[in-house]
Amino acid sequence: MNAYDAARMADVLGQQGYAATDSVEDADVVVLNTCHIREKAAEKVYSELGRLRVLKGERRAEGRDTRIVVAGCVAQAEGAEILSRAPAVDVVVGPQGYHRLPELLEQSRAKRVVDTEFPVEDKFDHLPARRNKGVSAFLTVQEGCDKFCAFCVVPYTRGAEVSRPVAAVLAEARALAEGGVREVTLIGQNVNAYHGAGADGEPATLADLMGAVAAIPGIARIRYTTSHPNDMGEDLIRAHAEIPALMPYLHLPVQSGSDRVLAAMNRRHTGDTYRRLIDRIRAARPDIALSSDFIVGFPGETDAEFEETMRLVADIGFESAFSFKYSPRPGTPAAERPDAIPEAVKSERLAALQTLLDRQRHAYQNAAVGQATEILVEKAGRHPGQVAGKTPHMLAVQVDAPEASIGTLLPVRIVEAGANSLFGERLPEKAAA
Ligand code: 5AD
Ligand code: SF4
Repeated sequence: MNAYDAARMADVLGQQGYAATDSVEDADVVVLNTCHIREKAAEKVYSELGRLRVLKGERRAEGRDTRIVVAGCVAQAEGAEILSRAPAVDVVVGPQGYHRLPELLEQSRAKRVVDTEFPVEDKFDHLPARRNKGVSAFLTVQEGCDKFCAFCVVPYTRGAEVSRPVAAVLAEARALAEGGVREVTLIGQNVNAYHGAGADGEPATLADLMGAVAAIPGIARIRYTTSHPNDMGEDLIRAHAEIPALMPYLHLPVQSGSDRVLAAMNRRHTGDTYRRLIDRIRAARPDIALSSDFIVGFPGETDAEFEETMRLVADIGFESAFSFKYSPRPGTPAAERPDAIPEAVKSERLAALQTLLDRQRHAYQNAAVGQATEILVEKAGRHPGQVAGKTPHMLAVQVDAPEASIGTLLPVRIVEAGANSLFGERLPEKAAA
């Protein structure tokens, strides 16, 4: 979602006559879009701001003004504290207020400003048309979270769950398609809890929404992220069987395989309910590729409980995953717990888990070799004459094909698995599986 928000901030500033630059030395406005999910991400902001302070001084010596904006969830969580810790900062704006960037920048000429309100108006109603769409685009359909997992800052930084109305999402999706986008990823912190108002004013589900997006001419592929197991409704599972444009890939965070840890995390599901859910999803779409998030070293997690996470991973089999050491976050219930796990133990567990997950990822990639599939070509490849795209299962593939193929679906056979991506060869148009 930060990538989406950054693109939308660029749209807002673009309307004011700003253009993006690749080198920060040239920037009249620098926007740091920040993440508060783990301590490491949040601390990075301050080291970056230290560097920007020097740059701002150098530019000032040359008679050039630089406005520095801190946006995103660190801005939301730390607000005015950022102004006192980082004297170079001119504007602090939370994730719900960035449509106001032009006026905030204007105000900052007189006085440094902080805007971390949850405004009454809907920022989406105040954002200009999207630029720089590419082939595959994110589309925010839902923001915020009401789940309050004990470790997580999202309910505080992004606020309560809010779904955009179906009509607003469809208008944005249509504009994307008209601009050449072929794949949309519907995003939200808890996207499968989507319940935006439909045409009749009644709440629509994510499955309803995907059905409508799939009908838009030009949209060939739909993905969605990120979901909570307890919101995998029956119709969403069915959508995986019934909507051809919905890609066979699901990111479904489980966090832990231990029921005691899951309860302490306030996840409100067990390892067993997750396994049975996966069984039902696989029954609807047998080839679905699975991805997940894991936290190791949650306070009080024993070796045996960590082994239950390893067992769950071994049993289910993931194509890809994100795994993290537990990071205590200010204001969350888990941060108050006295039974923190030593850093060294967390590191050991993370290494063991990542070894297993890497093995599964490689096995998945190797199993793809020899298969005929189809990629959506997104960009030029690593070498001249190559293009890069993704399979329905999200595997990145490089293939010899002209750049004119960007934006098309290309039938390929996977011929080799490299370290970071797969290599494919083109198949005649109708031979794709
Ligand atoms: N420490 C470590 N990982 C976290 N995540 C969220 N909060 C924390 C935390 N305090 C992870 C979860 C979530 C992903 C987006 O980030 O796995 O699914
Ligand atoms: Fe955070 Fe996801 Fe839990 Fe919401 S469901 S509190 S975003 S981990």
